[in-house]
Amino acid sequence: MSPLARAHAWARLAFQELRRTAATLLIERPLGVDTARIVDLASLGLAAPNRVDYEPSGWLDLRLILRRGEVTVDDVFLDLGSGKGRVLLQAAAYPFHRIIGVELSAQLMAIARTNVDRRRERLRCREIELIIADVVDYELPDDVTVVYMYNAFGGSVFRAVVDRLVASVDGNPRRLRLIYRTALEDEALLATGRFREVRSVPGLRPGRAWSRKMATRMYVIDPVTAPRADIHG
Ligand SMILES: C[S@@+](CC[C@H](N)C(=O)[O-])C[C@H]1O[C@@H](n2cnc3c(N)ncnc32)[C@H](O)[C@@H]1O
Repeated sequence: MSPLARAHAWARLAFQELRRTAATLLIERPLGVDTARIVDLASLGLAAPNRVDYEPSGWLDLRLILRRGEVTVDDVFLDLGSGKGRVLLQAAAYPFHRIIGVELSAQLMAIARTNVDRRRERLRCREIELIIADVVDYELPDDVTVVYMYNAFGGSVFRAVVDRLVASVDGNPRRLRLIYRTALEDEALLATGRFREVRSVPGLRPGRAWSRKMATRMYVIDPVTAPRADIHG
């Protein structure tokens, strides 16, 4: 590694650590929750190809990409790879009908459960389901309308999930929004021909390239409309 690349890597780590410490002191402690610390799936015996370690989204990420007026009491939110539940807590500030978190690790889910229980009285949506499962085995409920993913998995797992989202919309036609943070698999998503990017919020990071990479994007899958039958007079 060149000295410049080393300095760059060091600056990144220092920035991330600073951000984490600030979030812990200014947000997590006052809220009484614990979501900040990164956890390696290897330390939980769960590492496998295409699985990404636990690292939380930013505390403002959902609020910046999903506007208040865009959620109604008929909407259902799903975080695929929900970790310690930081995004579930953010989603619970909206008037969702129901919120679902799916997480591989029982240990991370136990922390999420404690976090949700600590905040429950103050949440707008209190109907929160916490499901311990591999997304590969998880059957998507057909009333979900907003799906969140923070780069939780890649490769074949990502493609399987995307196929399931499309099949879910085709099975129960509805407009589904996908919020994808750090959209590393953006190409696989767009290759389906069904997702349309409608919004992007750059990550709060120093440097244009880094903030673009860490952007949160919103895509929409619309139901396929049947071709209009020709009207013969
Ligand atoms: C980058 S973290 C995101 C956590 C949370 N969504 C957030 O934004 O704060 C990715 C999470 O996905 C989980 N994960 C990775 N592969 C998974 C899989 N196949 N099924 C379910 N969860 C998975 C990890 O355990 C981790 O908690």
